[in-house]
Amino acid sequence: MLSGRLNPDLQAQADRTRSHFCGEKVIVRGLFEFSNYCARSCLYCGLRKDNPAVRRYRIEPREIFRLAGAAAGKGFETIVLQSGDDLYYSRPAICALIKKIKDKYPDLALTLSIGERPRDDYRAFRESGADRYLLKHETINPELYRRLHPGQSLKNRLRILDYLRKIGYQVGPGSIIGLPGQTISDLADDILFFQSFQPDMIGIGPFIPQKDTPLKDHPSPPLGLILNFIALARLVTQNSHIPATTALATLGKEAGEIAALKAGANVIMVNLTPHAYQKDYLIYDNKARIGLKQARAAIKDAGRKISLARGDSLKSG
Ligand code: 5AD
Repeated sequence: MLSGRLNPDLQAQADRTRSHFCGEKVIVRGLFEFSNYCARSCLYCGLRKDNPAVRRYRIEPREIFRLAGAAAGKGFETIVLQSGDDLYYSRPAICALIKKIKDKYPDLALTLSIGERPRDDYRAFRESGADRYLLKHETINPELYRRLHPGQSLKNRLRILDYLRKIGYQVGPGSIIGLPGQTISDLADDILFFQSFQPDMIGIGPFIPQKDTPLKDHPSPPLGLILNFIALARLVTQNSHIPATTALATLGKEAGEIAALKAGANVIMVNLTPHAYQKDYLIYDNKARIGLKQARAAIKDAGRKISLARGDSLKSG
C-alpha cells in the first residue's frame, strides 16, 4: 500500500521552481467532454465499454462548434476537446470540426484528448489545425499497464506519444497515482520518464474508485503522496505545464487544488461541458465540477493571478 507524508521542503522548492519558470499566472483552459462512449475497458475507468450502468451521450460536431464559440466569447484562449476512445467521430468529421473552429477563431488553441486512433488520424487532425494532444501514459510500468488495459500496451502508448511530438503537437502524457500494485519505485520511474521526455504538459491525478468497475474497492492514495509527486514532476521538468487536476479537487476538495498550485502546478482546467452531460462523464465517483468561479477562488486563495491566455508550451523546440 502506498503511503506518503507531505514533504514541506520539497513543496517549497517546487513552488520556487514553478515561480521562476512559469511565473505567477495560473492558466485556465476550457474543457468539453463531448462523448462518454469508449471502445476500451481500462479496469479503473467508469466509462469502460463493459460498464452497462453508464448513460452514454454524444455531442454532435455542430453543437461542439457552438460551445467552442461560446468559450471563445468568454475569453478562453485554449479549449480541450475530450472523449472516450470513440471512433463514431470519423477522421473527416473531426478534421472538419477543427477547421471550422480554427477558421472562425484563429487565435484559439485547440487541444485534443480523444485517445488512441490510427496514425493517419493524428496527422490529419494536426494538419487541420489541432495544436496539442493529451494522452496519459497512466503508468510507466509495462506489466502494470498491461494488467489494467486489456488489449493495449505501454509500448504502443509511448510510440504514439513520440509520434505526436514528431508531427508537431505539444504533447501531454500523465500518470495515475495509487493504482493497485503500483509501488513507490514505479512512481519514481514515472518521474524519470518525465525527466527524459520533457513533456509540454503533464496530467497527474490520484486513482479514485468508481463503483461500477473491477477496482471499486481499491482506495485512493493519500493527498500528500500526490503533492510530492507533482512537486518532483515540477523539479525534473522545470517549465512543463502541470494542472491542478479535477481528480485532485475530487479527493481534496478545493484545498486539494490550492495545495497542488502551491506544490508546482500552474494550470487549471475548467469544465465547460453542458450540465446535462457532466453527470454522465463519470470516470470515477463523486467527480468534482470545477467551473470558472471555483477556479477563480482557488487561484485567489493560492495567492496567484488568473490568466485565460493560450499558454503555449514553454519548451523550446
Ligand atoms: N481514477 C483516476 N483517474 C482515472 N481516469 C480514468 N479512471 C480513473 C480513475 N478511476 C483517468 C485516466 C484516463 C482519463 C480519461 O481519466 O488517466 O486517461
